[in-house]
Amino acid sequence: MNERSEQKMLIALSKGRVLKEALPLLEAAGLAPRQDMGASRSLIFDAALDGVRLLLLRGADVPTYVEFGAADMGIVGRDVLLEYGSGSFYEPLDLKTARCRMMTAKPAGASDEASTADDESGAAADGPRRLRVATKFVNVAKRHFAGQGRQIQLIPLGGALELAPAMGLADAIVDIVDTGGTLKANGLEPGEVIAHISSRVIVNKAAMKLKGELIAEILDRLEQVVPAE
Ligand code: PRP
Repeated sequence: MNERSEQKMLIALSKGRVLKEALPLLEAAGLAPRQDMGASRSLIFDAALDGVRLLLLRGADVPTYVEFGAADMGIVGRDVLLEYGSGSFYEPLDLKTARCRMMTAKPAGASDEASTADDESGAAADGPRRLRVATKFVNVAKRHFAGQGRQIQLIPLGGALELAPAMGLADAIVDIVDTGGTLKANGLEPGEVIAHISSRVIVNKAAMKLKGELIAEILDRLEQVVPAE
């Protein structure tokens, strides 16, 4: 077993809102980057704690890095973990930051069924067409509607999902909602809450065995600065 002083640790951070809200916690935990992340094009930074380095990644890539051991630990939104599916890593800590909800939404006043107004083929003899759901969370959406026994047509998009219903591309969306402002500004209303989201710490399984002491120290430092409910 390595001595704590010899252990090296790579922590993958999810860029964007997860990072923005995690930085004050990293700071309070003595794990902040030594350099201003915004002032550099670098994607890897030394942290204040010796031996610890921080990687800047797209959220969707954080579970991949951690599962395959390219990073020992990660900080990532639960939305990304739900979409990633049954990753083989530990999820020991909820940072309770970047909180939001994964929700369905549809045009204000629309019914829950597929609209046929712009369906040139009309309602088929064998039943109405499937609800078209635009999302970047295709696995989450598939599971959610399958759980209700509903077959949907998935419309995979990379972003700006709120635009899809107004453009006639989808009947509904599955997206993350915080204040609800983006939905409202695009004529949509919230539907069902699929999951409550916050930032999570994940840990590679082998790293937990080999670098357990340093990981325990980092988890302990973070745990002490997690905001109260
Ligand atoms: C998310 C989400 C919505 C918005 C919701 O986008 O996709 O567009 O936030 O927030 P609100 O309910 O407070 O309006 P984000 O800004 O995280 O960027 P993204 O497009 O990369 O998802």
